[in-house]
Amino acid sequence: MNTTAAAITVRHSLFRPEQLSRHYFSGQSPLMSHLLTALSMTFPKGEQFFVHSVRQVRDQVTDPQLQADISGFIGQEAMHSQAHAQFNAAIQKEDYQLHAYEQQITNGMATLKTRSLRRQLAATVAYEHFTALIATHLLSHPSLFNGFDDNMRQLWLWHALEELEHKSVAFEVYQQVFGNDAPSLAQRRRSMRTISVGFVMGIASMTKTLLWQDRKNSLLSVPKLLLNARDSYYIAEMLLKTLPYYLAYYRADFHPNHIDHQPLIEQWREQLAINNEQIQHELKGYSRSPRAANTMWSVN
Ligand SMILES: [Fe+2]
Ligand SMILES: [Fe+2]
Repeated sequence: MNTTAAAITVRHSLFRPEQLSRHYFSGQSPLMSHLLTALSMTFPKGEQFFVHSVRQVRDQVTDPQLQADISGFIGQEAMHSQAHAQFNAAIQKEDYQLHAYEQQITNGMATLKTRSLRRQLAATVAYEHFTALIATHLLSHPSLFNGFDDNMRQLWLWHALEELEHKSVAFEVYQQVFGNDAPSLAQRRRSMRTISVGFVMGIASMTKTLLWQDRKNSLLSVPKLLLNARDSYYIAEMLLKTLPYYLAYYRADFHPNHIDHQPLIEQWREQLAINNEQIQHELKGYSRSPRAANTMWSVN
């Protein structure tokens, strides 16, 4: 049975790489923006792999609604992958880059593609749980983006919203194709354990590398250190708050739709539509309208 609650809409990103300033966290914590940059490095190859793993078993899905959801999932992930590849290319310079890590991610995904179809899809389902819990936290705490310009907020909040819209698709494909018997459940849990360690360590290592490469701006000033300390607290809070949601994944009867994200999705669909309208307005050379100035990203 398909229990997907949210319609899956494929939207184009309005992210403009040419407008990305290198220190897009101006006036805010370098730590938080380096963490998000590190996260972004995983998306282009990661999301291409997610699509690959679902496509490989798609012909075994008989539910027409789930087939439609798969199309939405593929469309959304393709757009995310493209936008984050643009961001990743624009943010990296000679002395500020994660090219070695990007290569490791490419190699890791290539290795994963040699594993069984069930193991590949179990990896995608685990990653999708991570993206859903991060998205939930970001959309519930938009003040984390204070100080980011609209270009960057649009990128992250657009992606977060769509992750919630398609949060259950890979999971449902896994259940329809491989079932929820003991071996399939054991694989789902095993993949989550492995991925949790690799994902968290990888993100932490990339964030640390960026902080060091950018130490002049990130570490060598007392105000920046204070901002980093404040955001370390926010990150610790995020880990604590998302822990029960993370642990729920190991339950035999877990389903992503057991948590109702519909109100959060509705709220951000509206907010994103207002923001997109405003960005398009500005692209045509008009100044910001008073209505949009009052409502833009005003949810707290
Ligand atoms: Fe995505
Ligand atoms: Fe996703």
